[in-house]
Amino acid sequence: MSETTHPSGAGGHGGHGGDGGSRRDFLLLATGAVAAVGVGSLAWPFIASMNPAADTLALASIDVDLSPIAVGQAITVTWRGKPVFIRRRTEAEIAAARAVDVSSLPDPQTDEERAVQPEWLVMVGVCTHLGCVPLGQKATDDKGDFGGWFCPCHGSHYDTAGRIRRGPAPANLLVPEYAFLDDTTIRLG
Ligand code: FES
Repeated sequence: MSETTHPSGAGGHGGHGGDGGSRRDFLLLATGAVAAVGVGSLAWPFIASMNPAADTLALASIDVDLSPIAVGQAITVTWRGKPVFIRRRTEAEIAAARAVDVSSLPDPQTDEERAVQPEWLVMVGVCTHLGCVPLGQKATDDKGDFGGWFCPCHGSHYDTAGRIRRGPAPANLLVPEYAFLDDTTIRLG
């Protein structure tokens, strides 16, 4: 497993602008010209909505190499300070996720909406109830009643598409903005 961060702003902040300008001036400027920082336009909508500090922009996007992950395995990467779960799903997990009657779900979403490529499920690993990190990433973890993830804090069960199926969590695990750069690399953000 590996990840590549792109701290493209790291060398640039200090010297940015004529030094007559204060850091605050730069931050105001950055808010309006955010696409110039970070890795590119892919990150724009989310960044714009978050209105982050310039330091955060440098971490807006990371690339993740998926090639070490075998079918049935999962990895966790940290992105914007949060765990991101990446599971390479088995045929059975995909089939289970797609067999569900979506109208019966607390937060109705099809599996197709949540997994751009069926084999790969990418989600922010934070329970939508009160923010615990659910179990289910390790082979030995309790994956709950639906074979996905289980949050033991108050008993939320997520299925193999990361959708809430039972327990107090009100929503599915969040699918972040990401794109495939090639068959085995994704860019988060
Ligand atoms: Fe996950 Fe409460 S934080 S069930």
